[in-house]
Amino acid sequence: MEVEVIKASAEAITRAAQLLRDGELVAFPTETVYGLGGDATSETAVARIFAAKGRPRFNPLIVHAPGLAEAEPLAQFDERARRAAHRFWPGPLTLVLPRQTDSGLSLLASAGLDTIALRAPAHPVAQQLLRAAGIPVAAPSANRSGRISPTMAAHVAAEFGSGVALILNGGTCPVGLESTILDLTGCVPVLLRPGGISLEELMAVFGDIAMPTPGEKTPRAPGSLPSHYAPNLPVRLDAKAARPGEALLAFGPDAPPGFAEVAWLSRTGDLTEAAANLFAALRQLDRPEFSAIAVMPIPERGLGRAINDRLRRAAAPRPS
Ligand code: TXA
Ligand code: MG
Repeated sequence: MEVEVIKASAEAITRAAQLLRDGELVAFPTETVYGLGGDATSETAVARIFAAKGRPRFNPLIVHAPGLAEAEPLAQFDERARRAAHRFWPGPLTLVLPRQTDSGLSLLASAGLDTIALRAPAHPVAQQLLRAAGIPVAAPSANRSGRISPTMAAHVAAEFGSGVALILNGGTCPVGLESTILDLTGCVPVLLRPGGISLEELMAVFGDIAMPTPGEKTPRAPGSLPSHYAPNLPVRLDAKAARPGEALLAFGPDAPPGFAEVAWLSRTGDLTEAAANLFAALRQLDRPEFSAIAVMPIPERGLGRAINDRLRRAAAPRPS
């Protein structure tokens, strides 16, 4: 099925904002590239983004807000972060900051990290949409995984089917390349991705900027960050029967008996629902009274690939 593409009139933006509030996905223009937006406070909406993109793993997403006032409750802004926002927002700069614990943001949006990437886009359509929606919007570039970022509505329409409710056409993106990502969680700002704001512009404000060292033992590459939430308990995959003291992460209707506790990813075997529940369920079971978290087999298709990728990392031997 073809997705509806509609000129970004005031009326269309109002409709798109309502769709976002209803948990649907809307593609919209920003000054950098088109984004595939969903309610960043809804695990289900965020899971739908990953499903639509066909991402084989859960890379953390950028959360969009109209400005600093709306972004501030979502993360811990120190003086440096506020300075960055005052100087470059709205605009093509994404800030990685510590998550605010009571932010209400989806755990899946930041892929279980304790940090969150935030950006206030400058494009008038994005501004109007975010203000009308009144919710933070998670939005990766609106391309399927592994394809190039879209700078026109037609690019987006060519990539997506029925998983996307609406594409707002706001013409060609003026910057045409993604936002610069700056990690402000450490002492020295780290440039995670070069983009719409140049290194020179950043250095004029911050002085020293560090680069992620290639081949570093703890690479900062997206999706392989060291601070990814890993349970304290050991994780045992492909569990078919209970071992003493184990808690079970269940998938599908038939959970084997004998576990000390069971948390369901999805009782019906729905992979989008399972993705939406993954990080909360892991946290729920990660308690010292259990010996381990056993995980039922999860099919290696669709979002199941991303879920299994995440679980394999959680089960991998830990550096001591
Ligand atoms: O210009 C842009 O930034 C566009 C428009 C739509 O805003 N969005 C975009 O999103 O490029 P995406 O998902 O294609 O790229 C987001 C990047 C990924 O490389 C991801 O790993 C990184 O941001 N990222 C997100 N959250 C992060 C975090 N907490 N820590 C480190 N990197 C993060
Ligand atoms: Mg992208």
